[in-house]
Amino acid sequence: MSEPADRRYGPATLPTARGPLSAAVVEALRRPPCDLPADLGVDLDPADPITDEDLQLTLFLCYELHYRGWLGVDESWEWQPTLLALRARCERVFEAALRRLVGAPSVPAAGVAAGLAELVAADDGPSLAATLQRRADLVQFREFVAHRSVYHLREADPHSWALPRLGGPAKAALVEIQTDEYGNGRLDRMHAELFRGTLDRLGLDTGYGAHIDVAPAVTLATNNLMSLFGLHRRLRGALLGHLAAFEMTSSLPNRRYGNGLRRLGFDEVATRFYDEHVEADAVHEQIAAHDMCGGLVRVEPALAPDVLFGAAAGLAVDRLFAAHLLDSWGAGRSSLRAPAPPALPPKVSLVASPEVAPPALV
Ligand SMILES: [Fe+2]
Ligand SMILES: [Fe+2]
Repeated sequence: MSEPADRRYGPATLPTARGPLSAAVVEALRRPPCDLPADLGVDLDPADPITDEDLQLTLFLCYELHYRGWLGVDESWEWQPTLLALRARCERVFEAALRRLVGAPSVPAAGVAAGLAELVAADDGPSLAATLQRRADLVQFREFVAHRSVYHLREADPHSWALPRLGGPAKAALVEIQTDEYGNGRLDRMHAELFRGTLDRLGLDTGYGAHIDVAPAVTLATNNLMSLFGLHRRLRGALLGHLAAFEMTSSLPNRRYGNGLRRLGFDEVATRFYDEHVEADAVHEQIAAHDMCGGLVRVEPALAPDVLFGAAAGLAVDRLFAAHLLDSWGAGRSSLRAPAPPALPPKVSLVASPEVAPPALV
């Protein structure tokens, strides 16, 4: 099996299994496509599917076959029927857990955009962004960036699954957002590439999928959620709702992340990804809520509850993610699975700079 010349764009190396289910899948993926045993002898009913390492890694292993694939894995596994059947079983468990977590959102009379605004306003999760802005040390900031790299190095890809499933105003709005995410066709402006600059400045591996092994289940769940919504046409409303919630809760936290890096002495290459989102997502949130989700529901009114479900699920899983990081740090532990990435020296001198925060953020 030969290493690709350029690891930046994937495929990633197969991760290490985290239990019997993911072990069976990893072992199978190393071979030519074949039927999985009908009974893997694994209980598919974990106590908490969202934080179950084995279940979330299994889903991630299956989903990645639809993105960049895995290094050395036969591409025909993508549509292997018994693997798809296993994925479907895992998805039923995961989706049921998400629906238990958020309940059935009701659509207000004022419409779906108002419903999204209500969900965002009620989002009272722990403020990871404030901690990163004001207190996090370099080790903790590097952990946060390693977690987020699982998504940001393929930023926007899961929501692009919606494009062929839509027509009309919702499609136009989604294209407008995605065009920005993909840098308007300029490689150096693609958000994934901007994030690679952050990883590089923080002395972290910039390879696609380089941090999957250290990302815990809850981090994988924030990604699997998007893939679940993205790969099922029936969940297109949830996918758009997820994107809307993402955009509506992005601008202020990204300002804080950028300010946190400046506090730690990092330069504009390290902060560019976050700075870019302060402006861009202030615009995207309007497009996402009104033009995209509003446009979808005008054409398909029955999808309104799904839009709010997707938004609520995204916000709820992100709250679990934030709580995991803050709880780990509060207890003096790493938030990553061992081993943490090596503490390479940052690529800029750590000269403390004054925090750049408008008073409104205090
Ligand atoms: Fe972005
Ligand atoms: Fe955005």
